Amino acid sequence: MPRYSLPAIVLHWLIALFIIGTFILGLVMTDIPGLSPTKLRYFSWHKWLGVTVLGLAALRLLWRLAKRPPPLPAGTPGWQQQAAHWMHILLYVLIVAVPVSGYAFTLAAGVPVVYFGVLPLPVFFGPDPVLKPVLREVHYWLDMSLAALVLLHVAAALKHQFIDRDGLLARMSPFGSTKEKA
Ligand code: HEM
Repeated sequence: MPRYSLPAIVLHWLIALFIIGTFILGLVMTDIPGLSPTKLRYFSWHKWLGVTVLGLAALRLLWRLAKRPPPLPAGTPGWQQQAAHWMHILLYVLIVAVPVSGYAFTLAAGVPVVYFGVLPLPVFFGPDPVLKPVLREVHYWLDMSLAALVLLHVAAALKHQFIDRDGLLARMSPFGSTKEKA
């Protein structure tokens, strides 16, 4: 079975790890009452990890545009091909839109982002009390949509692995043979 290329595989798993970490941190930090140093530290880490997701997502998108993914196995029903196609497009949109909305919310709240405390990132607009609550809602709902889609994506992969047993997961496995790269 043809596999994804090594850069696509590495980016896929890095993005997955970072998204899960950033998501959990987002839930944990917003649950901490008041304004403690720990809460502020978690907020900073959440933003740095989120910006890292955006950078990795940009690389993944460029790679995806430059190199076509391996074709689905012959005999995959048309509806499954369509579902996979649209699922992947939506995932790409969300892995960009989620960090962008978090970044925009942070700017609207009047907090510049200094990447890992050393690199000031661009401030595209200043504090905006009207936009701020809107962007908070937008970030929240995009987060939840991404979580739902990731769960669906994982469920589909597990179905292929354990019910259809068609070896589809091996295409994206970091542990498989590198001879058959596509
Ligand atoms: C993959 C990237 C990201 C994911 C999965 C993510 C996820 C989340 C989640 C789950 C929450 C908690 C929502 C809630 O329960 O209210 C949250 C909140 C937040 N996120 Fe993100 N986020 C990402 C990127 C970013 C980025 C890049 C920034 C800013 C640079 C950011 C800034 C914030 C802020 C400030 C909050 C707190 C919102 C509040 O005060 O209610 N996020 N994020």
